[in-house]
Amino acid sequence: MAQPIKVVVTGAAGQIAYSLIYHIAHGDVFGADQPVILHLLDIPFMMGVLEGVVMEIQDLALPLVRGVVPTADVSVGFNDVDAAFMVGAMPRKQGMERKDLLSANVKIFKDQGQALDKYAKKSVLVVVVGNPANTNAYICSKYAPSIPKSSFSAMTHLDQNRAQALLAQRLGVPVGNVSNVIIWGNHSPTMLPDATHAQVQTDAGLVPVPKLVNNDSWLKNEFVPTVQNRGAAVIAARKMSSAMSAAKAAGDHMRALWQGTPPGKFVSLGVISDGSYGAPKDVMFSFPCTVKDRVWKIVPNLSIDDFAKSKLAVTGKELSEEKEEALSVCQD
Ligand code: NAD
Ligand code: LMR
Repeated sequence: MAQPIKVVVTGAAGQIAYSLIYHIAHGDVFGADQPVILHLLDIPFMMGVLEGVVMEIQDLALPLVRGVVPTADVSVGFNDVDAAFMVGAMPRKQGMERKDLLSANVKIFKDQGQALDKYAKKSVLVVVVGNPANTNAYICSKYAPSIPKSSFSAMTHLDQNRAQALLAQRLGVPVGNVSNVIIWGNHSPTMLPDATHAQVQTDAGLVPVPKLVNNDSWLKNEFVPTVQNRGAAVIAARKMSSAMSAAKAAGDHMRALWQGTPPGKFVSLGVISDGSYGAPKDVMFSFPCTVKDRVWKIVPNLSIDDFAKSKLAVTGKELSEEKEEALSVCQD
C-alpha cells in the first residue's frame, strides 16, 4: 500500500467539513488504496467542537486514516501537506450575495496563502471552497508565490453537479448518464451553466443534450437561472448554506485533480485564466478542463454562441472587479 499523504481541511469544525472529512477518510477522493493523515485546522474558539469531530473520526474505524492532527496553528495545519481543502470562511446568510463576504473572508486567504507558501509541500494541490471562492483562490495563490499558480483552483463543481442533476431530471435519465456540462466564470449568479456540449449516454451511444432537450428557451430561461441561483434557494430553505452537496463536490473536484478525468470527459475548474475564450487574464475563471498526471488543461476550440459570449463577458467583468477589490482589502 502507498505511503500516507497529508491532507489539510480548513474550517474543519464547520458544516461542510463534517461531510467532507468522511469522503476523504473513506477513500472516495484520493483512492481506495491511499492512506491519509488528516490535518484539521480551525480557529482557537472551535477547538472543543473539533475534539468531538476527532472522536467521531476515530469511531468511524476507517482503515485509510493513519493519523488525525487537530490544530488552530497554521504551521502545524499546513505542515508538509500534499493536498489542501480551503473551506474555513464565513458562509453567507439569506439576502447576501457571495461577494458580500469578500472583505470578511479574503484576508483569511491572504494569511493562509502565506502559510501554505511557508509550510506546505511545493507540490501541494489546493482547492478553495470558502466564498467568494474564485477570488479567494486568486488571493491565496498570490500570497503563495513559491507554489505554482496552476496548483490552485476554485470550486465550481457544485454548480456542475447541480446542472448535471437538473438536466438528468428534465430528460428522465440517470444523473450518471449526463456528462460534459460546463460552468463558465465565477461561482456567483453571473456564472454561465452551459449545456451546449453536454451529452447523455443512451443505448444508442452518446447523444447531445440540446438535441434531447429540444427547447432552447428552457435551456436559456430556466436551466441557466435555476443553476445560477441554486445556492440562494438552498439557503432560503435550510437557513444555512449547502453543506452535504458542497462537501461531495469538493471531493469530486479534488478527485478529478488527483486521479485525472476519464477519456472524453470534462470537469469545470476555477483556474488561473490565460485569456482562453475571451475571459480576462489572471483571474480564477471556471473553464472546462481535462486532467492528466495532476495537470489540468483547458479544453480548447469549443464553439460558443453569442448568448454564451455575452454571459462570459459579464462574469469575467465581475471577476476582474472582485479581484481589484480583494487586492485593495489585502493592502489595508
Ligand atoms: P461553517 O460556518 O459551518 O464553517 C466554517 C468554519 O470555518 C467554522 O468552523 C469556522 O470557525 C472556520 N474558520 C473561520 N475562519 C477560519 C480560519 N481563519 N482558519 C480556519 N478555520 C476558520 O461554514 P460552511 O457551511 O462549512 O461553509 C464554509 C465556506 O464555504 C463558506 O464561505 C461558504 O460560503 C462556502 N461554500 C462554498 C461553496 C462553493 O460551491 N464554492 C459551497 C458551499 C459553501
Ligand atoms: C452554494 O452555492 O451553495 C454556496 O456557494 C453557498 C452560497 O452562499 O450560495
